[in-house]
Amino acid sequence: MPAQDPLDFLAIDHVEFYVSNARQASHFYRSTLGLVPRAYAGLETGVRDFASWVLERGHVRFVLTSPLSPDVRTDISEHIARHGDGVKDIALRVRDAKAAHAEAVRRGAISVREPETLSDSHGKVVRASIATYGDTIHTFIEREDYAGPFLPGYRAVENPPSAPETGIAAIDHIVGNVGLGDMNKWVAFYRDVLGFSQLTHFNDNQIATDYTALMSKVMQNGSGRIKFPINEPAESKRRSQIEEYLIHYGGPGVQHIALATKDIVATVDTLKSAGIHFLRVPHTYYEDLPERIGPIHEDYEELAKRGILVDKDDEGYLLQIFSQPMQDRPTLFYEVIRRHGCKGFGVGNFKSLFEAIEREQAARGNL
Ligand code: FE2
Repeated sequence: MPAQDPLDFLAIDHVEFYVSNARQASHFYRSTLGLVPRAYAGLETGVRDFASWVLERGHVRFVLTSPLSPDVRTDISEHIARHGDGVKDIALRVRDAKAAHAEAVRRGAISVREPETLSDSHGKVVRASIATYGDTIHTFIEREDYAGPFLPGYRAVENPPSAPETGIAAIDHIVGNVGLGDMNKWVAFYRDVLGFSQLTHFNDNQIATDYTALMSKVMQNGSGRIKFPINEPAESKRRSQIEEYLIHYGGPGVQHIALATKDIVATVDTLKSAGIHFLRVPHTYYEDLPERIGPIHEDYEELAKRGILVDKDDEGYLLQIFSQPMQDRPTLFYEVIRRHGCKGFGVGNFKSLFEAIEREQAARGNL
């Protein structure tokens, strides 16, 4: 596994969503995932064309952005009209944004924002952006010399409202759905342009039910801290969940964000009582599970009660559960994950999981 990281990525800095009502979306993410509003930009801070709320919990930082009239920031309005609420930017923290951008472009990236320096009394931030799949972008953020709440132009939220203690600590991985036949093109993009390496792949006989088939490859940066699985639909009898996503999102985009917790049972209980709906697998899933997985720290009964899934590899096991889509369109959803050594993505669960998703697709008339 090459540990090279030619663009010197440090971490996922933040995920920016374009949404139709950032104020209301921030309320949703606070009350359900327990993310705390930390910074704001908008009319009150001298920003005339968009409003933006920054929410944080542990190492997770979401930015929710809406345009302030139809005639400004038409890129945001058009993104929302086409995709609904969705992820625009997976921003990556780097040591040197200008150098990372130049190197990415030299390696074939399409620039969507030339390097710019933003500054205020807290210091300066350098940022630059490149295109990835669909209308999604990666912004490179250099913030070593910045001490403010988020970026210049944003003001700290004084006395943020309380948020439930959900135990969510970090982003484990972010999955992109791309079109039929395009997976390898985007795998090559992450390999050749961003210097990522391929961690693992799943093919359609591993990930197939009667209706759904997909292929997936997981790309990660040199340190292994940033992991981006890329899915494409495979030929199947009916419309696969990836095709359903592509139709409703209007093209490729972020399918799910996996959030890491130390105590998945407590996290799932808190999220459920906050109104998050999770996919349920049939109880038969649990019948041979202890035999298949072996001894674990958690109580199998407690996992079964909540529909938490278990998978393992040579290095350990993982626990995971998937939410239903978080908006009316069957597009973005969330995963909650707890790793005990296992570096996998739950391939052993895919079949039972997809059958659960197909029951939901059938209820939407999309199967
Ligand atoms: Fe995942």
